[in-house]
Amino acid sequence: MKLAILSRNTKLYSTRRLVEAARERRHSVRVLDPLRCYMRIDSDGFRMHYKGVEIAGYHAVIPRVGASITRYGSAVLRQFELMGTFTPNPSDAVLRARDKLRSHQMLAAQGIGLPATVFGDNPDDTADLLSMLGPPPHVIKLNEGTQGAGVMLTEKLSASKGVIEALRGLYAQFLVQEFVAEAKGADLRCFVVGGKVVAAMKRQAPKGDFRSNLHRGGRAKGVKATAAEQDVAIRAARVLGLGVAGVDLIRSARGPLVLEVNASPGLEGIEDATGVDVAGEIVDYVALRYKRIAAKRAATKA
Ligand SMILES: Nc1ncnc2c1ncn2[C@@H]1O[C@H](COP(=O)(O)OP(=O)(O)OP(=O)(O)O)[C@@H](O)[C@H]1O
Ligand SMILES: [Mg+2]
Repeated sequence: MKLAILSRNTKLYSTRRLVEAARERRHSVRVLDPLRCYMRIDSDGFRMHYKGVEIAGYHAVIPRVGASITRYGSAVLRQFELMGTFTPNPSDAVLRARDKLRSHQMLAAQGIGLPATVFGDNPDDTADLLSMLGPPPHVIKLNEGTQGAGVMLTEKLSASKGVIEALRGLYAQFLVQEFVAEAKGADLRCFVVGGKVVAAMKRQAPKGDFRSNLHRGGRAKGVKATAAEQDVAIRAARVLGLGVAGVDLIRSARGPLVLEVNASPGLEGIEDATGVDVAGEIVDYVALRYKRIAAKRAATKA
């Protein structure tokens, strides 16, 4: 298989591991910086160049595009799709996953559990918006926040209102959720590849915090997700259309609840915590899918 990895930096752990796993399996692999891919769009065909040279003949592409280049990165990924290259995470699925409100709506519509979530635009509606959610504690999350920064816990209604007023004053986008106290500061990252949970880790918040992010001092250890947790993670990835996804769950009294579905989940934390060759799982899945597509194409030609 001739494989491309769309990534801005060849030195990143996840990128390096994917290259390594592909080479071990004797695939040809190249890392392409999506911002150096440029394209011609025409009704008679799609073409792409990279640093002055035509890009052609890639069988599969694994996108590792960061949030900061979502738009351009997904246009490059779509161009690959239009040129007949297989991707485990299509551009439309990546865009869905990046849009928190949209993905929450899509998951809930399929009956997948989430913490109850509200959002609104006008400051005049704040009191009623919070009444739609229920009494505090509340978790307030900035839409652009990651790694736990921008996630706040408010224990009193006056605090929720104060934080929301302050955020509106800064023109920040945010959502408000019920606080799932039973999670006890832990969350569960399920790494889904091709409709299977290939690895899972539990992250535990440091004492005194409810956020389990490793960047906030959380600790990770490999665990086996329960059947119910695996089922929710697999369904969440499928609803968004992702072949590769990091699904974050919290354990609540009413079962596993989805916090987030990440379309470009990092490999370092999960491989360290579990010892699973997650990069190898991804490459094997992509190769298997490509082989099936190639066989089908050959059959229709014959
Ligand atoms: N509704 C909630 N109830 C209890 N704990 C929560 C809730 N939402 C988030 N947490 C805790 O806070 C942590 C950070 O929240 P979250 O994962 O939503 O934001 P983030 O990590 O900053 O952003 P993202 O994961 O979307 O990139 C979670 O890992 C979880 O431990
Ligand atoms: Mg998170």
